[in-house]
Amino acid sequence: MKVAIVGGTGAFGLALARRLVEAGDEVVIGSRDAERAREKASEVGAGAGATNEQAVGGVDLVVLATNAAGTLSTAVDLAQAIGSTPVLSVASDLRSSDSLSLAQRTQDLLGGPVVAGLHSLAAGKLAHGRPDEDAFVCGDDGDAKALALELAAKVVAGRALDAGPLAGARALEGMTAVIVNLNKRYKGHAGIRVTGLP
Ligand SMILES: NC(=O)c1ccc[n+]([C@@H]2O[C@H](COP(=O)([O-])OP(=O)(O)OC[C@H]3O[C@@H](n4cnc5c(N)ncnc54)[C@H](OP(=O)(O)O)[C@@H]3O)[C@@H](O)[C@H]2O)c1
Repeated sequence: MKVAIVGGTGAFGLALARRLVEAGDEVVIGSRDAERAREKASEVGAGAGATNEQAVGGVDLVVLATNAAGTLSTAVDLAQAIGSTPVLSVASDLRSSDSLSLAQRTQDLLGGPVVAGLHSLAAGKLAHGRPDEDAFVCGDDGDAKALALELAAKVVAGRALDAGPLAGARALEGMTAVIVNLNKRYKGHAGIRVTGLP
């Protein structure tokens, strides 16, 4: 699979890139600064680094991994370059009081399908190997969701789980706040494993 990681110079994008490169995927690191993208790409053994706009060309899946505050403006800026390519939004806005998720608002700005996922995976753990956790993906487009689930299955030691339609993205995005609070309260590194599924 060929994957572009927009905002791939950050903690989460780079950690994801490491796991995808390890799994044999072709990864392009995107940044607002091409030079920074190239530096970070070579740091994680990714094939290429480029501006976000160049990175999204000709890939199977775009991972939107800028910091949360930059998600929607980046979607507007890249809408034409992304076209109908499927997008995986990993963004969690911890301070948002909007009833629509960032992923749903991103979907409204782009022409192609948007799915949401991987919110419960901490960059710090992902950077050091496949975490012993499950990963969740939700979305309305079956093909885009299948691609995102395929990606998710490569980066966790647990399962990649289909968490239903894109309407569920608000709940997935909220998981980050829950995990942050658990880590603070119990001074740990919480992750999620689902029980009771066949
Ligand atoms: N960190 C985690 O553990 C974690 C876990 C799950 C999900 N997430 C989600 O993953 C995403 C990335 O998290 P992160 O911790 O990697 O964030 P980050 O390091 O703060 O930012 C990632 C990249 O976003 C780009 N960026 C910053 N401000 C921007 C703006 N205004 N417009 C466009 N691009 C901008 C920067 O790249 P350039 O300057 O190179 O363009 C930066 O390296 C977030 O949406 C977060 O909610 C994070």
